[in-house]
Amino acid sequence: MIVLGLESSCDETAAAVVENGTRVHASIVASQNDIHAEYAGVVPELASRAHVERVLPVVRQALGEAGLGLGMVDAIAVGHRPGLIGCLLVGVAAAKALAWSLDKPLIGVDHVHAHLYAGELGQPAADAASLFPALGLVVSGGHTSVYEVTSWTSLRRLGATIDDAMGEAYDKAAAILGLPFPGGPNLDRLAREHAGGERIALPVSRLGHDSLDFSFSGLKTALLYAVKGVPGERVPQTPPALDDARRRVLAASFQHAACEAVRLKLTRAIEQSASRGMRFRRLLVGGGVTANTRLREVLGEVAAAHALTMRLPALDVCVDNAAMIAGLGCELLRAGERSDLSLLAVPTTSA
Ligand code: KG4
Ligand code: ZN
Repeated sequence: MIVLGLESSCDETAAAVVENGTRVHASIVASQNDIHAEYAGVVPELASRAHVERVLPVVRQALGEAGLGLGMVDAIAVGHRPGLIGCLLVGVAAAKALAWSLDKPLIGVDHVHAHLYAGELGQPAADAASLFPALGLVVSGGHTSVYEVTSWTSLRRLGATIDDAMGEAYDKAAAILGLPFPGGPNLDRLAREHAGGERIALPVSRLGHDSLDFSFSGLKTALLYAVKGVPGERVPQTPPALDDARRRVLAASFQHAACEAVRLKLTRAIEQSASRGMRFRRLLVGGGVTANTRLREVLGEVAAAHALTMRLPALDVCVDNAAMIAGLGCELLRAGERSDLSLLAVPTTSA
């Protein structure tokens, strides 16, 4: 089955052609970084307008690279939730028009769930028995969630961030350190340069002793105080100058604390599920922050410690892309799911 996937939930306009869920014939991502860089964040109206201009060119490019005509596409998959509503509408309208005019099935895909599928792309197809039940982690600019995944159509969210998403915290931390947009990858690079060096203690959020939720706002504030000093202190301390050496120490310290919070919550999720008699087979991970050097190490350590198999997504499919939408769309279609032309763009995730 050849699925054409479309993605337009935020600031990437993407189209991909994927065969049988895992074989990626083409994956085109038109980034809007140049448009939003001067605002240091995504401006929704500018993003929607750019999607309108780019959606058909990326579809043409994907089909051209795959060497396929539209008539050879068996189904259209589109990320229809969650995201910026004006942006989602562009992809959903384009997908409906294609499905209707080609008279092919349409499937709406939850973008956050699709991130969990990224590791399967380009790999031999895994059978359900080797995959499920799986523990899922999505860490992106908008989401930080842990899932119990019993099939591609059955996901239960066990925990999520109560404030900033992990990628958002990285981006804000990078801004505090005066690093340019996009913050997450720049902070990662700085921390990598400092690997093995001195660190300062920054808080690893735990929340309640059995909570599987995340919180990154305390870590962000601790970093801010380490840079600017603590307001209202009885004996004010002047923080060290924020030179390159100090930036590296702070970046490595932030990265360490953020990634340890992930290790803690995944370990808790595994232990809690085991106590309910559920033994996970696979650790499914995805989202922009899974491109992070330290997080990739920590995820490998968690998987090894609990005998979970893991397929770390290739770096180009950690961030937003349409191949993951087409891949998961194929699984949903195989499971008998279908959308029709009443498919809505929805700003929130389904679970
Ligand atoms: O999944 P994604 O492309 O978009 C959303 O669905 O949100 O994730 C983007 C996020 C941004 O916050 C970006 O800073 C972060 O992923 N990110 C990283 C790295 N690469 C991307 N964060 C830390 N280290 C990285 N190497
Ligand atoms: Zn995403």
